[in-house]
Amino acid sequence: MKVFIAEDNIDSMYLLKTLLNKSGYRTVTAQNGAEALKKLKKNKVDLIISDILMPKMDGFQLCRACKKDDRLSKIPFLFYTATYRRKQDEEFALSLGADKFIIKPQEPEILLGILNDTLRDYKEMKSEVDSKQQVKEERYLAGHNRRIIRKLEDKVKSLNEEITRRKKTEDELYKRIRELNCLYFVANLTIKPDKPLGKIFREVVKRVPSGVYYPETTYSRIIFDKKVYKTDNFKKTELKEYEDIKVEGNKEGVIEMYAAKKKSGVSKGGSLKEGKKLINGVSKIISVYIERKRALEKLKDSYHRIKLILDCVISAMSYIVEAGDPYTSGHQKKVALLATAIAEEMGLNENQVEAINMAALIHDIGKIRIPASILSKPGKLSEIEFKMIETHCQVGYDILEKIEFPYPIAKIVSQHHEKLNGSGYPKGLKNKDISIEAKVIAVADAMEAMVSHRPYRPALGVDKAIKEIMNGSGKFYDPGVVNVCIKLFRKKNFKFNKEKESIPLQTTGS
Ligand SMILES: [Fe+2]
Repeated sequence: MKVFIAEDNIDSMYLLKTLLNKSGYRTVTAQNGAEALKKLKKNKVDLIISDILMPKMDGFQLCRACKKDDRLSKIPFLFYTATYRRKQDEEFALSLGADKFIIKPQEPEILLGILNDTLRDYKEMKSEVDSKQQVKEERYLAGHNRRIIRKLEDKVKSLNEEITRRKKTEDELYKRIRELNCLYFVANLTIKPDKPLGKIFREVVKRVPSGVYYPETTYSRIIFDKKVYKTDNFKKTELKEYEDIKVEGNKEGVIEMYAAKKKSGVSKGGSLKEGKKLINGVSKIISVYIERKRALEKLKDSYHRIKLILDCVISAMSYIVEAGDPYTSGHQKKVALLATAIAEEMGLNENQVEAINMAALIHDIGKIRIPASILSKPGKLSEIEFKMIETHCQVGYDILEKIEFPYPIAKIVSQHHEKLNGSGYPKGLKNKDISIEAKVIAVADAMEAMVSHRPYRPALGVDKAIKEIMNGSGKFYDPGVVNVCIKLFRKKNFKFNKEKESIPLQTTGS
């Protein structure tokens, strides 16, 4: 048996052809009505299956042409369509002389069943086929036109629906863009937690109307902490949306939006549909900002309190050390004064300056383990006594390492007698292994010791002290630190007896 398939869709054609071939049918194919008619005139086939919507000549026209052709009119004609699904389409198809009107898609077994039944029926009713009713030419044309017009109407209708749908989507999109732009603006305002709330509220109320459809006829207001922030054109209307500004769950303010009532003949105004969502978003951003700002303020407050306690502890420690060594009283405070001045002049960062100040204030803490008789011994120290003095760096480290300072205080203290050439103590570290903080304290320590009176020698004076540290520059002391130290004394008139506000607790008189 040979089946003719007229189908313009390649995939549908392939499926149908494969199904029929596998079921023992041979097939001839065409992709439109005109091509089908041409081939049908050359090939003898037992059955025709045709799509309806095809280019050049549709299925209705093909069926009509076949039924008008004596050679083709007796071949059973089946419509297999996905596009024409109405009852009227089927009636029209059958009126053209078609045998079956099958809606796509069909299960293969069902389709084959229909095909086989048609062929069988056709065989049995062959004699009746001749008498099958043929529609008159005018009737056919009228029916065919009606089908096409209806199809066109359907198409126009679905196109209109598509346009409406797209327009709606576009409108929705623009609404979202307006809202998002507004929310983005508000979020940007709240990036820095140090911005005053009043300034933020003033900018937010001005911007909020831009997030809705009719910004010119929309007014907004924020009430927070008994203060009112509003747009210049603000007025209350019946159209109102509002959202509470909550901080940690408690209402602390409100953001309101009003819209002018729509006047007849005026296209603008009267809509706050999207306003509720917008001010909801804005109030959330503001709430988060206030919560963050307050948390930060609490943190800052507790940091300052901890810092104050730490300063007091450091000063107390400094006092305890010097209480056992009355001849060097005030030494650590004066070293801290000079070391901090050097660090600031060198441009070290805030943390380094703070670390130097703290470490300098207690750099000799390890001396609490050394007998006062050795510390205040007039005259030269014996080698053993000197070795005992040297232990104060390591002892200082051991005491301080157990305390969690915000800076590496223990390390700086342990290095304050190290020298660039490795001749220092306790570890004999060299240049690159000594921290800059310890290098600064080393110079300040040496300067202060030389300009002050000691039990074993009188004060050397600033000039001699400067000469000494210049001699040691690059060998014992960091040249950069030495230069800054000299600059402070020579050009900036540095004096050890200046009081420093950052040191809260007084040590014994210097
Ligand atoms: Fe020391």
